[in-house]
Amino acid sequence: MSFKITKMLDLDSIDFFVDVEAPEVAERFHPGQFVMLMTRKEGERIPMSIQKVRDGKISMFIRKLGKTSRELRDGLTSFENVIGPLGHGIEEKKYGTVVVVSDAVCGHAENFAICEALSKIEGNEIISIQTFPSKDEIYPDEYLASQYAHRHFITTDDGSYGMKGTYVEELKKLIDNKVHIDFVFGGGRLPTMKAVSTLLAINNIDNLFTTRQMMVDGSGMCGACRIYIDGEMKLACVDGPMFDCRKVNWNRAMKRYAMFKKEEKIALEYYEAHKGGCGRCQR
Ligand SMILES: Cc1cc2nc3c(=O)[nH]c(=O)nc-3n(C[C@H](O)[C@H](O)[C@H](O)COP(=O)(O)OP(=O)(O)OC[C@H]3O[C@@H](n4cnc5c(N)ncnc54)[C@H](O)[C@@H]3O)c2cc1C
Ligand code: FES
Repeated sequence: MSFKITKMLDLDSIDFFVDVEAPEVAERFHPGQFVMLMTRKEGERIPMSIQKVRDGKISMFIRKLGKTSRELRDGLTSFENVIGPLGHGIEEKKYGTVVVVSDAVCGHAENFAICEALSKIEGNEIISIQTFPSKDEIYPDEYLASQYAHRHFITTDDGSYGMKGTYVEELKKLIDNKVHIDFVFGGGRLPTMKAVSTLLAINNIDNLFTTRQMMVDGSGMCGACRIYIDGEMKLACVDGPMFDCRKVNWNRAMKRYAMFKKEEKIALEYYEAHKGGCGRCQR
């Protein structure tokens, strides 16, 4: 069975948008959940957050990073498999004032999905903060969570648009200005999540953050996505992927996530050298 890609376009210089027909996944999706994508039968499975579902299609924001994501952007027309939705989604309920923060591709997808779902529930006041590297790298309006948030902030790493810095600075400003916050959702870069965990601990704010870990099967069998929460080992794919960021052992999580850098570099170099080549090279 193959899953047809119906739309693919660039969001900035490195992230792109993909729409794929996957009605069974779309029907069961809750914000915060992800899928495992397979570009070919023998290929690796890569986890991707879902940004939205419409008419039996799921949409994703994907970063051109290594072999599989580049192969995909280089003109793939269908996936061999789209497995999911996986992991626990958020509870779609009244939280009060919710802040949704993100500073990288997967986080922006989750930010959009969470803001959309919670905006439909009466009693939620939604503030979204999205961080991009610079003004030129901000996604087009229709891919931003601004359309569902009551208040939307953009910060940039280089200060070329909005506040300079990450969402942590903007969130701290809200807290300093005595904005009452009931809950924070977030995702994106691991070091920023580590930084925000201190801010949320000091201010005792409940939260759930997507802890991106290396995943292999996505179904709790391989143990690749081990993560330590309050000293206890959990599996991000089945117990998460969202956890209270105050309880995550971030140093350990960051170390594990960087574990396969050497192998990934070799796979990418091999792909770049052989793309468009014979079938034997397409591993
Ligand atoms: C729950 C979850 C949701 C994610 N959502 C998104 C998303 O919405 N958009 C997006 O662009 N990326 C997302 N990612 C990360 C994405 O899976 C990796 O970028 C992708 O696997 C890269 O594969 P590659 O072959 O292109 O690059 P590779 O060269 O294989 O890897 C590049 C980098 O991607 C990460 N990575 C690689 N393989 C995996 C893996 N099996 N599991 C987790 N991380 C990996 C590592 O940081 C690695 O250094 C998510 C990861 C998780 C765990
Ligand atoms: S990815 Fe294998 S146990 Fe989570």
